[in-house]
Amino acid sequence: MRLSRFFLPTLKETPSEAQIVSHRLMLRAGMIRQHAAGIYNWLPLGTRVLKKIEHIVREEQNAAGAQEVIMPTIQASELWKESGRYEDYGPEMLRITDRHQRDMLYGPTHEEVVTDIFRNNIRSYRDIPKNLYQIHWKFRDEIRPRFGLMRGREFLMKDAYSFDINYERSKHAYNQMFVSYLRIFDRMGLKAVPMKADSGPIGGDLSHEFIVLADTGESSVFCHKALLEMSVPKNVDYDSNLQDIVDEWTSLYAATDEKHDVNVGAKLGSDLVSARGIEVGQTFHFGSKYSVPMKALVAGPGGEEVPVQMGSYGIGVSRCVAAIIEASHDENGIVWPDSVAPFNVGLINLKVGESDCDSTCAMLEKAIKAEGLDVLYDDREERAGVKFKDMELIGLPWQLVVGPKGIAKGVFELKRRETGIREELSLDMVVKKLAASGKHVIRIAGDDI
Ligand SMILES: Nc1ncnc2c1ncn2[C@@H]1O[C@H](COP(=O)(O)OP(=O)(O)O)[C@@H](O)[C@H]1O
Ligand SMILES: [Mg+2]
Repeated sequence: MRLSRFFLPTLKETPSEAQIVSHRLMLRAGMIRQHAAGIYNWLPLGTRVLKKIEHIVREEQNAAGAQEVIMPTIQASELWKESGRYEDYGPEMLRITDRHQRDMLYGPTHEEVVTDIFRNNIRSYRDIPKNLYQIHWKFRDEIRPRFGLMRGREFLMKDAYSFDINYERSKHAYNQMFVSYLRIFDRMGLKAVPMKADSGPIGGDLSHEFIVLADTGESSVFCHKALLEMSVPKNVDYDSNLQDIVDEWTSLYAATDEKHDVNVGAKLGSDLVSARGIEVGQTFHFGSKYSVPMKALVAGPGGEEVPVQMGSYGIGVSRCVAAIIEASHDENGIVWPDSVAPFNVGLINLKVGESDCDSTCAMLEKAIKAEGLDVLYDDREERAGVKFKDMELIGLPWQLVVGPKGIAKGVFELKRRETGIREELSLDMVVKKLAASGKHVIRIAGDDI
């Protein structure tokens, strides 16, 4: 992508309305713009990050056996009246009346809709387990939308729903999502600790919140410090018994404010980490909370009808973008982890218009793209200082600088954003090094401009 054509409205000044660093940096880096309180436009740079996060979520949810669907954003109220939540949900639900005076709503969550799909199509234990998920926009009319994408009114969520014949099977579905979550956040470069959680308005008896520690987090959280050093499982067989992995991750103390036990915490002494946390995901097992009132029944092996056992599993996809920035930035801007970076390499031409510089950059751009990496080529006629500042701000993992002096010597400066380490490398070595770093990168379709 040529920066001269790319829509990247960066800001020099810090926007005064933004209170936390992720919000400030997303505005300054031209990733988002506010449309109304808690409602945002995603500009191209932000959209690319969001798509990469979605891609990770999708790959890992599919690997864990979940199947993607798309449910409506606008829902009819009848199902919510059936489940009893139409009244309970309160003013966070955006209620809409259509032209025929029917009560509609913009979905804050989809338990009712998915339970309806299930009950209309599945009748026998032979057709379960099933796990359906979507990555879709939700609306919650938060009383205090704040911190940009952290607590928006409209936000992108991955929500999965599992259906099983009994508690034991349902627990396995829960464990599948739990392990999948460990992998998802790890792939995004986030250290997310599962913590015992209150199951909140959805209700239920088994729930974990996945929490990223950050000073700007909305809740206070407590955990054993060893949890922050644990490595996530690789090559998971989701059909195998996952209880050992879940036990390993839940045996050490970790609790959000509501579930915190001061006495247990005190016993941990200096092993206790007390911090602020951002909830990036939550897993719930809620059994027959919806299947009983909504009559989502399946015939068991003996022919008897039983309410299906359910769980729901959310990830705040748009919140993750902000959480990653909270966890990874410095005074100059964002520091993207490779896996979710909007582009992998920023190519800086120091002398646009000089034919050697232009042709070398064009050649490098092509060579790096041929290795499967996304390049943002700064071909603007701007001062070097402006280009460096913008590159630091948008935080691409690699910066490759091309100027007349380097070309004369046959070397290019490659800088790693994260460490600030610069190396002067030959063309071959640059391409080799970038290729080696980019084995697992995700590419955005249609990027050959
Ligand atoms: N207002 C919001 N803005 C951005 N992300 C949100 C918001 N509300 C919830 N999320 C994300 O969606 C995930 C699933 O939502 P859920 O647990 O149902 O919400 P809550 O924790 O607010 O009850 C949360 O873990 C969080 O990451
Ligand atoms: Mg939650």
